[in-house]
Order: sequence, then C-alpha cells, then structure tokens
Amino acid sequence: MDAREMKIKAAAAALAHVENGMRLGIGTGSTAEEFVRLLAEKVADGFRVEGVPTSERTARLCVELGVPLKSLDELPELDLTIDGADEVDARLTLIKGGGGALLREKIVAAASSRVIVIADESKLVDTLGAFALPIEVNIFGLVATRIAIEKTASKLGLSGSLDLRQSGDGNFTTDGGHYIIDASFGRIPNAEALSSQLNAIPGVVEHGLFLNMAALAIIAGPAGVRELRATR
Ligand code: A5P
Repeated sequence: MDAREMKIKAAAAALAHVENGMRLGIGTGSTAEEFVRLLAEKVADGFRVEGVPTSERTARLCVELGVPLKSLDELPELDLTIDGADEVDARLTLIKGGGGALLREKIVAAASSRVIVIADESKLVDTLGAFALPIEVNIFGLVATRIAIEKTASKLGLSGSLDLRQSGDGNFTTDGGHYIIDASFGRIPNAEALSSQLNAIPGVVEHGLFLNMAALAIIAGPAGVRELRATR
C-alpha cells in the first residue's frame, strides 16, 4: 500500500464518524483532501453536511467538488473536525502547520466538540519535534520575534535553526497574511512548556503544537487502520 492509499484508508475510516446533518470542520493537507473527495461523493448521493474549511485551499477544493460550505462566523460551534497532522504522539499531541494552515486549523479545532486526526503511520512518533515546528508570526517585528523565539527555546534547552518559510520567489504568506518560522528543534520533550511560552511572545500569532485537542487518531498502515484514543 503506498502513502496515498494509506491516506485514503484513514480518510474513509473517518467518514464513518460523520453523521447526516453535522456541522463539520474540514482540515487542510493531502490527507484532509482525500477526506474531502470521499465526503463529496457522499454529498452527491444526498448526504447533508455543512463544512467550515480551515484554509482557502480546502475551500477551493470543497467548492469544486460540491461540498457545502459556511464560514466559522455562520457556524461558530461545530460537531466534528477531521484534519491531518505532521506528527502525532501517543497522547495525541500534534504538530500541525506543514501546509501553513495552523492558525485557522487551531481556531476551527477549538470550536469543535470533537477532533479526529487522520494520518498514515509515518506521522506517529515517540517524541514530537523531528518535523520542524511551524510558528506563525506577525510580519511586523519579525527579527525581534525570531530572537524572542530563540531565547525562549534556549531557556527550555531547545536549539536548532529557525527558518523563515519560503514559497516561490518570496516568503510564504499564510491565509491570515502572516509569515511562518519553521523551528527545527529535533526533539520537543515538554510540548506544554514550549506551547505556553511561545504563546507569551507578542509577535507569535500561533504555533503548530496542538495540545489536548484531538480525541481520536485514525492511523493507516500497510496492515490496516487503527484508532488511537486520547488518554486524558
Ligand atoms: C496543514 O497546515 C497541516 O496542519 C496539515 O494538516 C498537515 O501538514 C498534514 O498534511 P498532510 O496530510 O499533507 O501530510
């Protein structure tokens, strides 16, 4: 089974959790897009959902495939969000934001009664941090914010390159008009401490550590699909 087939399997298993009439947060990334494709087939067969997309990219795909959309302001309380992740640990703490949508993803997840993560098993890790942590920053004061991130990380014993994400000829810009610094810490043993201290830096808009948000992870591997539940 190749990576795409695993993503499709995870997405299909997640679809079984979606009930007729649900208000649904719809994630971003290649795995979430497989979910959108499968959801669109059900919608075409008469299944009713109202989706809130976590990015312009996901919104475009939903419109193209006929999945009905609302804004989060129109549907501020959601029943369920299905989204991918860049890393998942055993407590279902996540690193997200590889696709640059972490801010809207976190806002939508926080507005959801339940969050299900879908991923292939390459995303499962013992300790978060091999995937560079995306940190969304305000464009104003970028250099000062970068220094503040470096100092904060250093106090927690973390170091590594802080790279301003690039796209084409320039800096990658998020849907919210911010930049992303990808922090290659290698290991993040204390995600809670890093999360709260990054949140205390004024120029940090949001970061890709998702703590206590996912209730269930649907992980697909060559041997099949398994479900991991949050132990909280
Ligand atoms: C988007 O910003 C991310 O949080 C994605 O959910 C994450 O990068 C997973 O993407 P893939 O499903 O493409 O690996």
